Amino acid sequence: MIEVNNISKTFNKGEATAVKALSNIYIDINANEFVVIVGSNGSGKSTLLNSIAGSFICDEGTIIIDGSDVTKLQDYQRTKWLSRVFQNPLQGTAPALSIIDNFRLAALRTQSKSMKIGVSDTFISKVKDRIATLDMGLEDKINQPVGSLSGGQRQALTLLMSVMDESKILLLDEPTAALDPKSAATVMLTADKLIKQLNLTAILVTHNLKEAISFGNRIIQMSEGTIIKDLKKEVKEKLGVNDIFEWFQ
Ligand SMILES: Nc1ncnc2c1ncn2[C@@H]1O[C@H](COP(=O)(O)OP(=O)(O)O)[C@@H](O)[C@H]1O
Ligand SMILES: [Mg+2]
Repeated sequence: MIEVNNISKTFNKGEATAVKALSNIYIDINANEFVVIVGSNGSGKSTLLNSIAGSFICDEGTIIIDGSDVTKLQDYQRTKWLSRVFQNPLQGTAPALSIIDNFRLAALRTQSKSMKIGVSDTFISKVKDRIATLDMGLEDKINQPVGSLSGGQRQALTLLMSVMDESKILLLDEPTAALDPKSAATVMLTADKLIKQLNLTAILVTHNLKEAISFGNRIIQMSEGTIIKDLKKEVKEKLGVNDIFEWFQ
């Protein structure tokens, strides 16, 4: 599904402040894999997700998504394959708009077929059905401004919005880092459920070691712009929080 071949990225190349954020990274991610990425601050985790999403063009290497060479494509040209959720719940939703208008905006942004039916009853009932799966009672509040909701509720909605289109890959960059533990758990359970229901391929960056052992079927550790561990499902299943903690010593 995602083939990353020998990519490297240096920020501020040629300047005194140059940082080699990624060095010759190779990863091959199969459809339906749910990869967890851990690593110290500055190890290149976000840069790796950003390179897959097309936030910038890499200095070398190629990226193939679902058989298409996307190496030179801009981020907006990759949205048919990819959806993303970031750390800050405020980033994914517009506070002054109602829940339903946020979903309409998301449909517009991804230019999916739902754009045409953004005002129809079909669109509204599809959105309501999806929101009901959150079990937060928000399906009855779709005309309420998103700004009146909690960070956890907003992040759960962001997740739902990001998977409303047909994209098959979900990139999650510390989606729970800004949330209280209870909201974080709800958001992660929602993400896991959606990934399974919609057969998504997913990459989760997290600093939460409990999340790292509870979710996903492969785990990668990054350090200084390289991959230093890449463990398959069978090995990952046997890991405890303490094992991963020791990787950081
Ligand atoms: N846009 C940027 N400009 C300059 N340096 C950057 C930029 N983005 C990331 N970096 C640097 O690249 C390195 C990797 O950053 P990042 O991928 O954000 O790490 P992580 O997500 O693992 O904490 C860090 O040294 C960071 O300061
Ligand atoms: Mg990061």
